[in-house]
Amino acid sequence: MKLVKKTLNWIVLRLPHREFVMKKLLPRIVSSFPVSLVYYPIYTRIARKKTNAIRYSTLVIEPFNVCNLQCTMCAYANSKREKTSISMDLFKKIIDDAKIVGIKTVCFSYFNEPFLDKHIFERVRYTKNAGLSTSIITNGCLMDKKIIDEIFDSDLDSILISLDGYSKETYLSIRKGSDFEQVNANVKLLIDERKARERKKPRITLGYVMQKKNETERSHFQAKWGKLVEEIAWGQPEEFDTAEDIKNRSGVRTKKLSIAIKKGYICWNFFNNLTVRSDGKVVMCCSWLFDDEEHVLGDLNKQSIMEIWNSERVQKLVEMIRNCDYSKIYPCNKCYGPFKLSTHNWWFADYPKGGS
Ligand SMILES: C[S@@+](CC[C@H](N)C(=O)[O-])C[C@H]1O[C@@H](n2cnc3c(N)ncnc32)[C@H](O)[C@@H]1O
Ligand code: SF4
Ligand code: SF4
Repeated sequence: MKLVKKTLNWIVLRLPHREFVMKKLLPRIVSSFPVSLVYYPIYTRIARKKTNAIRYSTLVIEPFNVCNLQCTMCAYANSKREKTSISMDLFKKIIDDAKIVGIKTVCFSYFNEPFLDKHIFERVRYTKNAGLSTSIITNGCLMDKKIIDEIFDSDLDSILISLDGYSKETYLSIRKGSDFEQVNANVKLLIDERKARERKKPRITLGYVMQKKNETERSHFQAKWGKLVEEIAWGQPEEFDTAEDIKNRSGVRTKKLSIAIKKGYICWNFFNNLTVRSDGKVVMCCSWLFDDEEHVLGDLNKQSIMEIWNSERVQKLVEMIRNCDYSKIYPCNKCYGPFKLSTHNWWFADYPKGGS
């Protein structure tokens, strides 16, 4: 796959309309291939072959587990964890370690609003200086002129702003506690500033997790924002649930997980994303539906990434996930992650994971 990517990149670099090809045409072509027919067979083969080697390409890190909103589909409100922020010392150690194991991208997200972390841009700069690309997933509430200046100054590569609604009524019925006009103005300011500064970065994606409340507004949203940003990440209707539903899903395999098991789909999330919480603990995956101690795999305060990966617990999980034994693993038995493989992840190393 790496060789195919390299060859295609080599060709694209020599094309006359590179920007258009890379940002519009190619993603469209890539996304139009049926995931089950094209990506899964390749990915499953790769995942089966080198089971013991680390293949994380993205570090999803939660700098500070605090959020200013209470979105209806998000499990943040259920999180019982103590509110804590990763110290800069530990953060640097994690980034250095991530580089050693071959991680290419760092995504600031998980159970939080990244712009509430007062060290966020210090972290972005450190990560960039280490040679890794950076992305932030945000609700956009705090993205004022000062933060936007920092976004450009720190050379952030990619940003996903979660909007989830076209009309004020719908937006506020999902994104509880937010300010519709303010967030829309913030997004526009970011777009305008990028144009005024003649900058290509950050790549801007808008997140829209499809739900009953917002599904009829999809076309209006597309018409309003589609041409202004690189991408809209549409979360599939099946991907959302209310926090209460998620809690009550107890052990029941969804239809999609059954299909994934039958077809032998290996969870991309588990192998691709290393997820670190604000207390320095590594968890199973960045699925933000689960936030308890049961899926903690190790502690980066005391261990290295490699030590955690090589631990008996993780290696056992590697084997079980490789064999699609999801029903025996918590929280995989409550999830349909293996069914979800974003075609974009194959293409954009700095694509912010989330909202899709
Ligand atoms: C948990 S949030 C953290 C970042 C930031 N607070 C935000 O809202 O963008 C990361 C992403 O998860 C999405 N999300 C939250 N709950 C979800 C759910 N139940 N299903 C799918 N996506 C969800 C959000 O819309 C957002 O794009
Ligand atoms: S989706 Fe993001 S903004 Fe909304 S409650 Fe969850 S973490 Fe906060
Ligand atoms: S199956 Fe779900 S819970 Fe398990 S690793 Fe994959 S995304 Fe995470």
